[in-house]
Amino acid sequence: FDQIRPLVAQHIREVRDFPKKGINFRDIMPLFADPVLVNELCIAIADHIRNSIGHIDAIAALEARGFLFGPQVAIHLGVRFVPIRKKGKLPGQTLQASYIKEYGEDIVEIQHDALKSGDKVFLIDDLLATGGTLRAAIDLIAKSGATVSQAFVLIKLAPLKGREKFPEVDLVSLISYDEA
Ligand code: PRP
Ligand code: MG
Repeated sequence: FDQIRPLVAQHIREVRDFPKKGINFRDIMPLFADPVLVNELCIAIADHIRNSIGHIDAIAALEARGFLFGPQVAIHLGVRFVPIRKKGKLPGQTLQASYIKEYGEDIVEIQHDALKSGDKVFLIDDLLATGGTLRAAIDLIAKSGATVSQAFVLIKLAPLKGREKFPEVDLVSLISYDEA
C-alpha cells in the first residue's frame, strides 16, 4: 500500500464542523473524482488479500460507504460480496447486532444464510472512529459461524481508540490520523 497511500490521502477532504459543530469530517468522496485511482486502490486491496491472507470465501462491507469499495474488491478477487446493512433493509431472515452511537443504539443486520460456518471473511469499511460499527459487523459474522480473517479501513481516527473494541481481529488501516 506504500505507493497508493499518499495518493489516496491527497483526495481526502477535511470538513470542519460537519455534520455538527466540533466534528472534523473526513470526506472520502473526492476520491471518486479519480476513477483510475479508485480502481487501483481496489486492486491493491485485492492483491493484499491474495498475497498476505490467501484464500477467503467472501468480502463483507458495511452500508453505506463500505459499499463503495467492498463489491469492487470482491469482483477483482472473484469472491462473493456480503452486505451488512442498517436494520430493516435486508429481506428475509436476518441476524442482528446492536452498537452504541452518539445518541442511543443502532442495529445492523446480515442475511442469515449469507455466510456459512467456517467461511473466511475479509471485512471492509471506509472509516474507523469509535469502533462500534466494526465491532457489530464482527459480531454478526461470528453469529453466522464465519470468521473475520482481517478487517480493512481506509481511515483510522486513532485518538478515538476504536481499535480497542475488537482486539481479537487483525486490522489494516491505509491512513491513520492522529487528530480526530
Ligand atoms: C460512518 C463510517 C463508518 C462508521 C464509523 O458510517 O462510514 O461506517 O461511521 O464509526 P464508528 O467507528 O464510530 O462506529 P455512518 O453510520 O455514519 O454512515 P454511512 O456509512 O451510511 O454514511
Ligand atoms: Mg459507514
